[in-house]
Amino acid sequence: MAKPRVFVTRELPGDALKRVGEYYDVVVWDKYQAPSYEKLLEEAKRSDALVTLLTDRVDCNLIESSPRLRIIAQYAVGYDNIDIGCATRHGVYVTNTPGVLTEATADLTWALILAAARRIVEADRFVRSGEWYKTGTGWHPTMMLGIEVNGKTLGIIGMGRIGRAVARRAKGFNMRILYYDVRRLSEDEEKELGAEYAPLERLLAESDIVTIHTPLTPETEGLMNRERIRMMKKGAILVNTARGRIVDLDALVEALKEGHLAAAALDVFPQEPLPPDHPITKLDNVVLTPHIGSATWETRTKMADLVADNLIAFYKGEVPPTLVNKEVVKVRKPGFS
Ligand code: GLV
Ligand code: GLV
Repeated sequence: MAKPRVFVTRELPGDALKRVGEYYDVVVWDKYQAPSYEKLLEEAKRSDALVTLLTDRVDCNLIESSPRLRIIAQYAVGYDNIDIGCATRHGVYVTNTPGVLTEATADLTWALILAAARRIVEADRFVRSGEWYKTGTGWHPTMMLGIEVNGKTLGIIGMGRIGRAVARRAKGFNMRILYYDVRRLSEDEEKELGAEYAPLERLLAESDIVTIHTPLTPETEGLMNRERIRMMKKGAILVNTARGRIVDLDALVEALKEGHLAAAALDVFPQEPLPPDHPITKLDNVVLTPHIGSATWETRTKMADLVADNLIAFYKGEVPPTLVNKEVVKVRKPGFS
């Protein structure tokens, strides 16, 4: 039997794809930019497997146009770019990369919390631009004052793996932790994390820092709309490392301009890359990063390894270790035979 063909939409770090090559004919899109939808469609039609990123739109049209396609191995934990229901109906397996990026994303979240609270990026600009030098004083009692994190209330929206890893780190800052999720943790888990469940309204009203860790779904899209941003405490900080479309960015800009919120830190945006003339880029009290939650050498290599594990297990007729659409096994057995 000829090797099944896998189209990989970008080069991945590490040598995971070499391992995949023992089982698959691996075709890698070697440009820095994503393939266009048309290009992806053309490749998918000729492929038995795809490795996709969150920037690749895998809709029902693409799935239905690709009769050979059996597995989509997403190089991300989120998979809102893929029509999962359609994939399941057509017996196409979808896998993701949970777990391996939890700690890196929690670290970035904390980097953003501290950067926003202590105005790190603004302070860096202050030094480089010569503004500090112009003040003619090395130290002043009211220079670059920020917000103390220690002892404050942290509100975590979405208490999955990443939300919990953020909570664990908050212990070191002696924080009170409120969380909201559609699923409540067990009492033991709550106790271990020192986290208290709160309805969203109360979480927003009582938290000094609110951080988002939910997937993007129809329920979470626009969750932080104008009204809910208004429910946040005056002078609070909003951090988003999840998905851009969970927050109404225009409403956030307004709240920051009016001083309702003290600061915000965003790693994700409704449109990526974020256009540099977007009003949010004009504000001093925001920290902006280009969707780098999982961006460490270690994590991105582990994500590639997990993609390889999923593809190889599937090839061997086994259920892939991190299958998203578990019901698909009732539609078709794993493997290419
Ligand atoms: C990145 O945003 C991911 O979902 O892994
Ligand atoms: C993702 O890894 C999550 O469950 O938060």
